[in-house]
Amino acid sequence: MTSVEAKLRIQNLTKELHYHNYGYYVESKSEISDYDFDMMLKELEELEGHFPEHASQNSPTKRVGGDITKKFASVKHVYPMLSLSNTYSVEELYEWEIRLQKLVEEPLEYVCELKYDGVAIGIKYKDGALVKAVTRGDGIKGEEVTANVRTIKTVPLQLDGSYPDDFEIRGEIFYPLKTFESINKRREESGEDLFANPRNSASGTLKMQDSAVVASRGLDCYLYGLYGENLSKLGHYESVLEAGTWGLKIPNASKNYIKKVHSIEEIKNFIDYWDKERNNLDFEIDGIVIKVNNYETQDNLGFTAKSPRWAVAYKFKAEQVSTVLESVVYQVGRTGSITPVANLKPVQLAGTTVKRASLHNADQIKKLDLRINDTVFVEKGGEIIPKVIGVDFSLREVNSKPLIYINQCTECSTDLIRREGEVNHYCPNEYGCPPQVMGKMIHFIGRKSMDVDGLGEETIDQFFTAGLISNIADLYELTYEQLILLARMADKSVNKLLYGLVQSKQVPFERVLFGIGIRFVGETVAKKLVRHFKTIEAIAVADFETLIAVDEIGDKIAKSILEFFTVDTNKILIDRLKNHGLQFEISEDQQVEIGDKLAGERIVISGVFKHHSRNEYKAMIEANGGKNIGSISNKTTFILAGDNMGPIKLAKAEKLEVAVVTEAEFLEKLI
Ligand code: IVH
Repeated sequence: MTSVEAKLRIQNLTKELHYHNYGYYVESKSEISDYDFDMMLKELEELEGHFPEHASQNSPTKRVGGDITKKFASVKHVYPMLSLSNTYSVEELYEWEIRLQKLVEEPLEYVCELKYDGVAIGIKYKDGALVKAVTRGDGIKGEEVTANVRTIKTVPLQLDGSYPDDFEIRGEIFYPLKTFESINKRREESGEDLFANPRNSASGTLKMQDSAVVASRGLDCYLYGLYGENLSKLGHYESVLEAGTWGLKIPNASKNYIKKVHSIEEIKNFIDYWDKERNNLDFEIDGIVIKVNNYETQDNLGFTAKSPRWAVAYKFKAEQVSTVLESVVYQVGRTGSITPVANLKPVQLAGTTVKRASLHNADQIKKLDLRINDTVFVEKGGEIIPKVIGVDFSLREVNSKPLIYINQCTECSTDLIRREGEVNHYCPNEYGCPPQVMGKMIHFIGRKSMDVDGLGEETIDQFFTAGLISNIADLYELTYEQLILLARMADKSVNKLLYGLVQSKQVPFERVLFGIGIRFVGETVAKKLVRHFKTIEAIAVADFETLIAVDEIGDKIAKSILEFFTVDTNKILIDRLKNHGLQFEISEDQQVEIGDKLAGERIVISGVFKHHSRNEYKAMIEANGGKNIGSISNKTTFILAGDNMGPIKLAKAEKLEVAVVTEAEFLEKLI
């Protein structure tokens, strides 16, 4: 990016962020998600880092150091959270060692660790109990995200063994790759934009306001550094391993995630091992961290202004290759969203053959100035899907022409639209565009929706191509006579399929609602809508205010629901499905359980119970309109306490004057 381009982008980002901040603070409205806000802020931060001359004095990045706080308390770190100086070659490590040995004479013992590519966190424990978790922020002050960190299953709330009574442990929070992929899959299913990479999503999740959502997301952590007055061990390695015995999730020495070594040669072996093996990890690392082990030596070496002298990071080079862009194809998703994809001359990259790369959207293509037959650089960095990061202009053909983005759908020739504030183009021909029509049906019969036995993607394709179905209601009008004539359809499979369809009429309303595929109505939202409105009629007539009053329904979802019910085709479709006997109201079983006796209550469950399990109590709370929350705060309305509730929780409840309700009292409330 040239300096002029950077200046423009910095100005635009600054203006937009100021605008959203104002909207948020002054007008109490958010036009964009926290995630998108954070992404813009991050881009601005990076640009200002590269082009400091263009950064404005009042840049939104300067509000709270480098890490803007929208809604979390700012906390000063007892020990500043510094960064590491980076090295990119073994030669630089030798030079580092020479520098160290000029400052201290004793032979150096090193600890090699993975450099986890996530979000740094400092977690404080007092008397074995987790008391505070703070993000890095600007290194001096961070954001208190305790409630969210408490929901991470691998972070113990109470330690075991003989831990120091007051200490902090630091580490990295991240998404395991499998979890990240399934989150994106879910987002795709409900028509939301996909998260770009695990690190940014982990950071976004950690700063969400509702810790119940954080709890459902599956973040994980590795903890790699202890800070405190009374650490019993002489070295970093020993301390970290000891912390493992208190129940903290520390890097696994037997898997070579952490290793004590005594020379740069051994460090090099560790680096070489992980440079190859990192592709087999279920989380991302972007390098190796090398630390001097002995605490006293660390003290003697001290710090520079920004980083400790006793530690360095060795960063892996993002693997990059160049290849030829042969063509660009445009994929049309279930929701009509267009994704441009680069077809590349096959090339080896990070252990796999790469033939395709995502180009994201029209803006990205324009930014890169991509042209067919260009030699392009492809990188496998933080993203799972390889991406085209630039063009080798020196190899560009003389007669090449800028790529013109399509303005009509490649599948149905309808003019594309681009909604305000969205980066993707859409094909609006929802009911006529084949991939959209098919996609809707495939979604409808899916495991989490109607789960129709005997029907799959291939059969839907076959029936659609044969002209038998073009929407989800048509499925229920298929006959034996029609199906038996098709290829690969014998008596048995036809009967199985027809029986599967009949059975699907018993599928509960919430899954039907998810299945009909209203944009942004995922599984959870469908559940909330059903619990709140009980019938499809009630949802169909609800206005904007009524919709957004429901838990977890924001502007975007509400607008999408309203839009859905203004379309006649949708209304007719639902009527037809209703006539076929599908469930469009909450079942009596669910009705009985459901009430609003606990509406507005925020309840903490603690202790051991006699009559029901914890999970059952959780379900009861939710079914009665309450909210089960993880930790006691001044927002907690009461604690459902079984036997043996921990003394720390009791003391906290007393301090905050939160009522403690026994199991019997609780059950009485529900009668
Ligand atoms: S030690 C004084 N160890 O890298 C420095 N950091 O660039 C203490 N990181 O902010 C950091 N893995 O977020 C350390 N094994 C590891 C790490 C690690 C990832 C991150 C951390 C830190 C950044 C420094």
